[in-house]
Amino acid sequence: MPNMIYGTAWKKENTTKLVEDALLSGFKAIDTACQPKHYREDLVGLGLENALKKGINREDVFVQTKFTPISGQDVNDMPYFTHDNIITQVEKSFLKSKENLKLDFIDSYLIHSPFNPIEDMVKVYKKMEEFVQNREVGQLGISNCYDLKLFSYLYDIAKVKPKVLQNRFYVDSKYDKELREFCKQKDITYQSFWSLTANPNILASSEITSLVSKYGKTKEQIFYKFLNQIEITPLNGTTSKIHMLEDLDIDDFLLEENEIILIQNLLN
Ligand SMILES: NC(=O)c1ccc[n+]([C@@H]2O[C@H](COP(=O)([O-])OP(=O)(O)OC[C@H]3O[C@@H](n4cnc5c(N)ncnc54)[C@H](OP(=O)(O)O)[C@@H]3O)[C@@H](O)[C@H]2O)c1
Repeated sequence: MPNMIYGTAWKKENTTKLVEDALLSGFKAIDTACQPKHYREDLVGLGLENALKKGINREDVFVQTKFTPISGQDVNDMPYFTHDNIITQVEKSFLKSKENLKLDFIDSYLIHSPFNPIEDMVKVYKKMEEFVQNREVGQLGISNCYDLKLFSYLYDIAKVKPKVLQNRFYVDSKYDKELREFCKQKDITYQSFWSLTANPNILASSEITSLVSKYGKTKEQIFYKFLNQIEITPLNGTTSKIHMLEDLDIDDFLLEENEIILIQNLLN
């Protein structure tokens, strides 16, 4: 999995151009969801198609999308009906994602958030396992799961083990320390969102700003590098081409161990 993922929420009609720009700028992964309320998954598909026409190889792009349960949908605009049974909901949503993205293979497929009853969530996961077995999906995961007990339960009952946990990276969840430890033990990628939005105090801290001149990088580049070095794959939702290019340009330096510890101490 690439070390940074381009996030496509809230980009509305600009989604096509931004996805194309992100891929041509060097992003190798895209995140979306079959949730029209927040994502134009159809325009992600168009942006991807444009980038492929301009020389990007499909094999070099990691495409991730999500099944969003009713609780996260606008019931007037969603890929299934409220009266559909839970299996039909995930089947219809997955079909719509493939149609939107113009793909017959999705690299990574997530449950957008845990939902009740838990038996239904398990049924959805089991259906998603079939997509993997049918070689329509590469790997599975879940998002917005802040409960280690629930996540480890899902892990235990899964035949196809989850490979992704995508969560908001913020102080309220204590930065998911225990969940991140679990992910490391089980070889699961922890993806962070709100990495910049939720952490302006950390970005403005002396621990980060003192490294800006040392490495000749922006505070965002330093923070993204820090995340990578503690094995976090951040989502990046920028709408700026300059930020895209800057944020991808972090392969030419490494933070020292003591610098990582100082920033890590801010995650409390
Ligand atoms: N699973 C979920 O439930 C969930 C929820 C929310 C988001 N997400 C995913 O996460 C993605 C990212 O969203 P986010 O909320 O986490 O946004 P973010 O990447 O934390 O923040 C993006 C914001 O930071 C600003 N920014 C300033 N300097 C920047 C720089 N150098 N690089 C990047 N951004 C910079 C951006 O402004 P400019 O546009 O001016 O750069 C933008 O307003 C979403 O698109 C979505 O795919 C998932």
